[in-house]
Amino acid sequence: MKRTYLVVGHSSGIGLALTQLALDAGHAVVGVSRRVSGIVTPDLSERQADVLEVDVASLDLPAALDGVAYCPGSLNLKSFGALQESQFLDDFRISALGAVRVLQATANALKAGRQPGVVLFSTVAVRQGMPFHASIAMAKGAVEGLTRSLAAEWAPVIRVNAVAPSLTSTPLTARLLSSDERLQASRDRHPLRQVGQPDDVAATALFLLGDQSRWITGQVWGVDGGMSSVRTERRGDR
Ligand SMILES: NC(=O)c1ccc[n+]([C@@H]2O[C@H](COP(=O)([O-])OP(=O)(O)OC[C@H]3O[C@@H](n4cnc5c(N)ncnc54)[C@H](OP(=O)(O)O)[C@@H]3O)[C@@H](O)[C@H]2O)c1
Repeated sequence: MKRTYLVVGHSSGIGLALTQLALDAGHAVVGVSRRVSGIVTPDLSERQADVLEVDVASLDLPAALDGVAYCPGSLNLKSFGALQESQFLDDFRISALGAVRVLQATANALKAGRQPGVVLFSTVAVRQGMPFHASIAMAKGAVEGLTRSLAAEWAPVIRVNAVAPSLTSTPLTARLLSSDERLQASRDRHPLRQVGQPDDVAATALFLLGDQSRWITGQVWGVDGGMSSVRTERRGDR
């Protein structure tokens, strides 16, 4: 059945892939980003807005939404000592407070939807400690807390889950994958010996938005090439 999804951060990376997958599956998407997506179809309606600045309720969103995905985030990799207080706050604002603003503005529309689902974005670096990730891991740790709290508060009507990717090839991470050597080193760090592609992560997000995941809430799904939970090193390798 055709569903209507709000995708915040639909112009790039994982959100763009999610938008395309949802459209390909026959759903309608309302996309909100500062830039447009370049996708042209009557099933996609776009709003150009900065979700940290705009009153989200003023965006003329549908009265009923079957799902909301909040994709914006940041990649601020610095040693702990070099991180400014303002950078911690900026990372928290875009990953966590932006999601709060969107979900407070869309709660009633979600309640009016069919089997509604929310998908938020965390990172593998919450579960697996990594150097230089203090600020984004703190911000995304807040997203995971929000995921479980809202899943409890909004049950049994609205399901709330998060996806926690490892390194995925998007404009956000282009600098990290900018040479063959860097790409190979990143692949080698993952048990599945690949970095993620936007569709790998978007497919899980689309599943969690959809009614096939109607018995799943309060979960953080690692889509991470095995990074958070698997070691492939064998005894003889050491
Ligand atoms: N890629 C990875 O390796 C990776 C790993 C772990 C976690 N994640 C998380 O996964 C999510 C998606 O990552 P991605 O790599 O797809 O990021 P991306 O390529 O930077 O895309 C982010 C999207 O959010 C939009 N956006 C950013 N700030 C916004 C604002 N203030 N108002 C409205 N829209 C805004 C951007 O569009 P505009 O610029 O047009 O506004 C863009 O469409 C993020 O939360 C990220 O932290 C990614």
